[in-house]
Amino acid sequence: MKLERVLQYAQTLLKSVVLDGDIAVDATAGNGHDTLFLAQLVGDEGFVYSFDVQKQAVDATLHRLLDNGLEHRALILNTGHENIAQHVTKPVAGAIFNLGYLPGGNHSIVTKSNTTVTAIGSLLKLLKVGGMIVLVVYHGHEGGKEERDEVIRFVSDLPQKYVHVLRYEFINQKNDPPFIIALEKVKELPTTTA
Ligand SMILES: C[S@@+](CC[C@H](N)C(=O)[O-])C[C@H]1O[C@@H](n2cnc3c(N)ncnc32)[C@H](O)[C@@H]1O
Repeated sequence: MKLERVLQYAQTLLKSVVLDGDIAVDATAGNGHDTLFLAQLVGDEGFVYSFDVQKQAVDATLHRLLDNGLEHRALILNTGHENIAQHVTKPVAGAIFNLGYLPGGNHSIVTKSNTTVTAIGSLLKLLKVGGMIVLVVYHGHEGGKEERDEVIRFVSDLPQKYVHVLRYEFINQKNDPPFIIALEKVKELPTTTA
């Protein structure tokens, strides 16, 4: 067995929880790779909600879905993931965040710790028991380390009775390689938590 690379492993985790008929969330649509992947997993009975603050990312994601004939399986919202609770009300099986900037886009528009943490908190409430949030943490860019540290602080404090938190990381790679944080909801949260 080979150790899965970070992006591969993110997909393996999502595949294990997002099944036919499920609701899934792509919190950072970007160029639409994850939205397409989730749209393939949920099937025609399921649905994907996808968020991005940049119109360029919304357009790129829509085009990717259209190219694959799967545009009917997703709603791409040109708004921040911190507003998830206003748009998603059904139980979510799986969600993905790719933190950082849009590849090929404006490198100064990046995800930020406060909005990322707000979105994780909202998703934890929406998540089904057994559901999972996968974060791919890019931290090499300006502001990336501050976001990384805030996110780690927030998820490390989540009570293990309700959420299992995993970090998957290659620790001998150079140049700030991305790593994964996965949050598995194991019990319904009390209304005061997250
Ligand atoms: C690393 S990229 C995502 C890559 C994407 N998953 C893909 O498959 O190409 C990060 C994206 O997060 C977006 N972003 C930044 N702040 C955001 C926010 N508050 N809510 C939603 N998206 C945000 C950026 O515009 C950028 O497109």
